[in-house]
Amino acid sequence: MLDKIKELAGSVQQFQANSAESLEQFRLKFLSKKGEIGQLFDEFRTVPAEMKKQLGAEINKLKQFAQQKYDDAAAALENAVSDDSRHDLTRPGEPFEIGTRHPISIVKNEIVDIFSRIGFTVAEGPEVEDDWHVFSAMNFAAEHPARDMQDTFFVEKKSMEPDPHDILLRTHTSSVQSRIMEKRQPPIRMIFPGRVFRNEAISARAHCIFHQVEGLYVAENVSFADLKQTLLYFAKEMFGNDTKIRLRPSYFPFTEPSAEMDVSCSICGGKGCNICKGTGWLEILGCGMVDPNVLKNCGIDSEKYTGFAFGMGVERIAMLKYQVRDLRLYFENDIRFLKQFKSAY
Ligand code: PHE
Repeated sequence: MLDKIKELAGSVQQFQANSAESLEQFRLKFLSKKGEIGQLFDEFRTVPAEMKKQLGAEINKLKQFAQQKYDDAAAALENAVSDDSRHDLTRPGEPFEIGTRHPISIVKNEIVDIFSRIGFTVAEGPEVEDDWHVFSAMNFAAEHPARDMQDTFFVEKKSMEPDPHDILLRTHTSSVQSRIMEKRQPPIRMIFPGRVFRNEAISARAHCIFHQVEGLYVAENVSFADLKQTLLYFAKEMFGNDTKIRLRPSYFPFTEPSAEMDVSCSICGGKGCNICKGTGWLEILGCGMVDPNVLKNCGIDSEKYTGFAFGMGVERIAMLKYQVRDLRLYFENDIRFLKQFKSAY
């Protein structure tokens, strides 16, 4: 009987379950009531008393060994099964969603691209600025209302009087004009995209945070005709080849003369609709010839050089381009809104 036990232990040892079926056969052969080990227990009743202790221990060891083998093989098989299903190449894929660019970024990139095609390079300046770069260097009189607490978010205000050292959130990207002109000499042909801040009540048409793209061209013999032609080129590239522009006299402290530019309404083609309020025209930017005082403040020879500058609101252009009627949508980041904008930019 001892030989029989050894022999069975040997075949248990050798067993390898390569399928659920062979595992079941193993169970039937060794572990079931009528299996080999069950039979040993039956025979065990007839062994002489003096052998019972040793044989009993051996049979029990064999039974435990076979059970262990069975459990291990069953666990291994189960793992193999779930591994297989993970690699089932016929299962449908799990697509990951590709995000889309924010419409403001799309329009900003498009503006940058349009101007880079005619030689403008890009620079950026700080959002937290000093009074000098936002106002003083830009020829704002000390009492100019734009410096007022009601428009400007101040970070550090020296006193009630305006001070070039006051720290504030820039209210326009024109501050990058003064930053750049202090650092380099003409020719300068650059655009400055960025975020600006104004203390305004939030509504469908206004927000306290928005985006601008500023343009600056300073060189010898730059004229208003150059400004006009540059902006016409931009308008046609941005809104289509049939677009017309119109310049209306305006005022900015840092440009002289100054103008505001309208483009013919791309929605009604200039006939008049509710987007252009029946006028056929849409205002999109402010511009003008750089005031000689600004050149002087920044260390540029205003006898030798002239320049033009312009500044546009990115949200405004995006609203016209996509016919979005509420500015707040750009800031809420509702995925259902953002998902609609797909673009090469
Ligand atoms: N900075 C002006 C604004 O924010 C726009 C502008 C820029 C006007 C450059 C003229 C020249 O409204």
